[in-house]
Amino acid sequence: MGAAAGGLVVENLSVSYGQVAAVRGISFSVPDGGSLGIIGANGAGKSSTLKALFGLVDSRADTMAFQGVSLRSLPPHRIVTLGIAYVPEGRRIFPGLTVRKNLLMGAYRQPWRRLDGRMERVYELFPGLKRFDRTPAGALSGGQQQMLAIGRALMSSPRLLVLDEPSMGLAPVLIDDIAGVLRRLREQGVSMLLVEQNAKLTFGLTDRCVVLENGRVVEEGSSAALRDDPGVRRIYLGM
Ligand SMILES: Nc1ncnc2c1ncn2[C@@H]1O[C@H](COP(=O)(O)OP(=O)(O)OP(=O)(O)O)[C@@H](O)[C@H]1O
Ligand SMILES: [Mg+2]
Repeated sequence: MGAAAGGLVVENLSVSYGQVAAVRGISFSVPDGGSLGIIGANGAGKSSTLKALFGLVDSRADTMAFQGVSLRSLPPHRIVTLGIAYVPEGRRIFPGLTVRKNLLMGAYRQPWRRLDGRMERVYELFPGLKRFDRTPAGALSGGQQQMLAIGRALMSSPRLLVLDEPSMGLAPVLIDDIAGVLRRLREQGVSMLLVEQNAKLTFGLTDRCVVLENGRVVEEGSSAALRDDPGVRRIYLGM
């Protein structure tokens, strides 16, 4: 990796759980202002890849760096202060805390004077959340909880937003809402690493994609080209 390489650069990443190899030497990058999708079926290694970035699982890699800074030995909160925010699989909001407090948890170690503005920006992106400001997050619907999880990640004003299957378990109309928000964030210059089983959604939101099978990259290219690839269409778009 050259010293000038910006964005996220991952080279030869592997993750194992004891004898189980979940990720087997994959490489990918997300340039500054760019976006990458990682598509794969159940168990392909998508979540393990993201957890490795944040040091949540043991991993090996030749390079794992953001803006030229190695992520290898940084604790998760330092990675957030570098400008990467993570929306984990299954949302992981705090059900007993109000929506407002959940959002504030995403602003951990951020300057207090900026928080009101950031919260307004989140409520502007997700107008449906604002009236639940003082409501325990556990009372929200699945779609609202996903929006809260994304909003919480945005409270750190990330340069790179990392999302693990934001469409999981949501009705198509809610997936469309979330896609709209992610598109707006892209237009505002936020970089995105989007992990999904929903290939159609991912092709529509990203510049480039990699396809993971059994922990290996089996296809990669521009999202537009992959969407038209007959093999990818058959397996991942069901056409
Ligand atoms: N904590 C764990 N202990 C043991 N094996 C695990 C663990 N977590 C994941 N695995 C295994 O690692 C492989 C990759 O799992 P991973 O969760 O990364 O896949 P995924 O692509 O995110 O799947 P999904 O679409 O179901 O979320 C699978 O074979 C899974 O069973
Ligand atoms: Mg997963």
